[in-house]
Amino acid sequence: MNTTPLSHLTHLLPTAMRRRVEPVLEAVAMLREVENTAVMARFTPSMLRGFVLRLGRREEATEMLATHAARFDWTYASDFPEMRALYSRAKQHQWDAETLLDWGMDVDPMHPDRPLIPSDFFDFDALDRHVKLSAEERRRFLYNMAAWMLSQFLHGEQGALFAAAQVTESVQWFDGKLYGSTQVVDEGRHVEAFHRYLDTKLNKLYTINDNLFVIIDSLMSDPRWDMKFLGMQIMVEGLALGAFGTLYKLTREPLLKNLLGAVIQDEARHVHYGVLALREHVRTALSEAERREREDWAFEVALLMRNRFMAHEVYEEWFEGIMTRRQWNDLISSSPGMREFRDVMFRRLVPNLDTIGLLSPRVEAHYHRVGLLRFRGGKNAMQLSGDDLLRDLDGEIAAA
Ligand SMILES: [Fe+2]
Ligand SMILES: [Fe+2]
Repeated sequence: MNTTPLSHLTHLLPTAMRRRVEPVLEAVAMLREVENTAVMARFTPSMLRGFVLRLGRREEATEMLATHAARFDWTYASDFPEMRALYSRAKQHQWDAETLLDWGMDVDPMHPDRPLIPSDFFDFDALDRHVKLSAEERRRFLYNMAAWMLSQFLHGEQGALFAAAQVTESVQWFDGKLYGSTQVVDEGRHVEAFHRYLDTKLNKLYTINDNLFVIIDSLMSDPRWDMKFLGMQIMVEGLALGAFGTLYKLTREPLLKNLLGAVIQDEARHVHYGVLALREHVRTALSEAERREREDWAFEVALLMRNRFMAHEVYEEWFEGIMTRRQWNDLISSSPGMREFRDVMFRRLVPNLDTIGLLSPRVEAHYHRVGLLRFRGGKNAMQLSGDDLLRDLDGEIAAA
């Protein structure tokens, strides 16, 4: 990430102050690159709450003001057959984490033969240049990285639960409301399952990552349903689906693998719903200026999501004072596991943005500049069911 020249001086500050200042400088650098003033105006208050006030880390609970219109439909007429079909599928594929998963299974997060994430996930040779970890410390570090990732999944799921409820209220299609009711239940089950796994098997929960906080804060406070939709159903959920798939492929811990397999089936439906709704909305209801704003907003969220995977919370716990935040950013960005995460996530996301109509020639250069345009042309969410995704992942595991 580009930061201001001031960032070169932050190593002179005491640790506590540096921890406050560095994320702010990164946020300022990010805001300076935002060209669309409407997008900047939308993001600035959320960035203030997330990066400067760090509300997600300070309290046990955060109040976010949600302002959107709840739309009642008194005709109850079926108005979107594909959404109605998704609603039927969703009802038939409900599962219960209490009975589907074997919670009696013993999980040892430090187990050498059944690691949560494999050792080649991280470039320990590069880390050795800063600090040498023992074999036991390396296993503990990987366990902490997995707990950090799963904690972010959990926080994202809570955001998805609330966003699904809001979208269900405000979406214009009646079939969309019926479908939305199943997604609210899906997300509630996901929160339950991820939390139970973290709480009873890993015994570790990290606070929400600042970047994820900013995105969720921005969605909750935006009154426009399609922005909530775009942010949650396409960006956060689309990227989460890629992240779940990567972890499903990498993990050797059976309970986690089963949990992720079940969640992936649901998430594939959620992203499908998002693409269906937004493609229609962008085509029929938005002016060109409104479309452009969404297009720019999506790009900024993509950047925030990309930076979300820097695991600064793990850095602060393990390496603050040993290496600079900038050195950590380089280390984590180039680690093989994180690279795979990013690639898979954006391989799923970019074709969806393209299908919706938010990847016009005007923004292609932006995506190209940050290395994301190469994912254009892949399958979109409407062409990939949960079964397809799992079959692909199992095929990749067998071939490895
Ligand atoms: Fe979910
Ligand atoms: Fe979801």
